[in-house]
Amino acid sequence: MSEKYLIIGEDSQIGSFFTRRYSDISVGTTRRREKVSHRSSGIYLNLEEDLSLWAPPKGVTSAVIFTAVTSIEKCQQNPEYARFINVEKTKNLIDILHKNNIFIVFPSTNQVFNGTIPYQKVGDTPSPQTEYGKNKLEVENYLLINKIESSIIRFSKIIPPDYPLFQTWITSLKQGESIHPFHDMVISPVSISFACMVIRILLEKKLTGIFQVSADDDISYANIAHDIGTKLGYNGSLIQPVSWKTSDIQLNHVPEHTTLDTTKLRNDLGIKVPDIRIIIDEILEYYG
Ligand SMILES: NC(=O)c1ccc[n+]([C@@H]2O[C@H](COP(=O)([O-])OP(=O)(O)OC[C@H]3O[C@@H](n4cnc5c(N)ncnc54)[C@H](OP(=O)(O)O)[C@@H]3O)[C@@H](O)[C@H]2O)c1
Repeated sequence: MSEKYLIIGEDSQIGSFFTRRYSDISVGTTRRREKVSHRSSGIYLNLEEDLSLWAPPKGVTSAVIFTAVTSIEKCQQNPEYARFINVEKTKNLIDILHKNNIFIVFPSTNQVFNGTIPYQKVGDTPSPQTEYGKNKLEVENYLLINKIESSIIRFSKIIPPDYPLFQTWITSLKQGESIHPFHDMVISPVSISFACMVIRILLEKKLTGIFQVSADDDISYANIAHDIGTKLGYNGSLIQPVSWKTSDIQLNHVPEHTTLDTTKLRNDLGIKVPDIRIIIDEILEYYG
């Protein structure tokens, strides 16, 4: 019988993609009670609640933790709540999984670094500037210090095919309305299918340590918007880049660089991250 992997947070963007793509090997948790009551296999888990009686299903050997307060803005606005979920309750959950001999895959972030240097290495000293990055680093350290059997995967940006921001841009461009992407905010994205493949392999191989996944270069949101506009044949003058500093978003910190060194991914898993152009073309393919 093939192994089953526990997907903590099957409603998350990545979790829902993963459970669809690998439905035969996934069993997921949700905090949406109505979902659990509508099917026999759903596992209820709400990190806000007391976890002392919660237990993972029998037969699971590996789990990936997708549940988190992931909005950088929300973490900044309510750091106590973000830390409660992202650190305290996540550590609680890790203890339960560990006690049940379940190998853990923990998605972390490039935001454990301050973003002043490109291609940060696994062993470089972290210096998170955001609450979200600080939360993730705290859990990374908990896993490492306590020698908990786990893979930590620091992802830069993960883009699903129906990424809402790009959808909004396309809707506006179609209607002849201008869009205002940031010229001074960059990402080094990988596709969600690539990210899920890496997670899937680590759930199976149970390799311990820190892995890093990012594209091989940074690209600004404005440049992605231009690529989308060109690909879909929209009027380029509708794309009017602005600075994030003049926008509504309230962020204390935006990294200059988001790329990570991916040598370990190549050496240990034999996986090379595709060239940034191929990644952007793959994303654009969906809209074409
Ligand atoms: N997306 C990226 O680019 C990226 C990059 C690096 C790392 N990561 C990490 O990868 C993981 C998944 O990311 P994502 O973008 O897919 O996240 P997401 O779409 O924002 O989903 C987060 C999930 O956490 C659940 N959640 C929040 N609070 C909860 C609680 N108290 N109890 C139970 N569930 C709770 C939410 O449940 P509801 O759906 O019910 O609200 C939601 O499904 C996160 O740990 C994130 O930090 C993501």
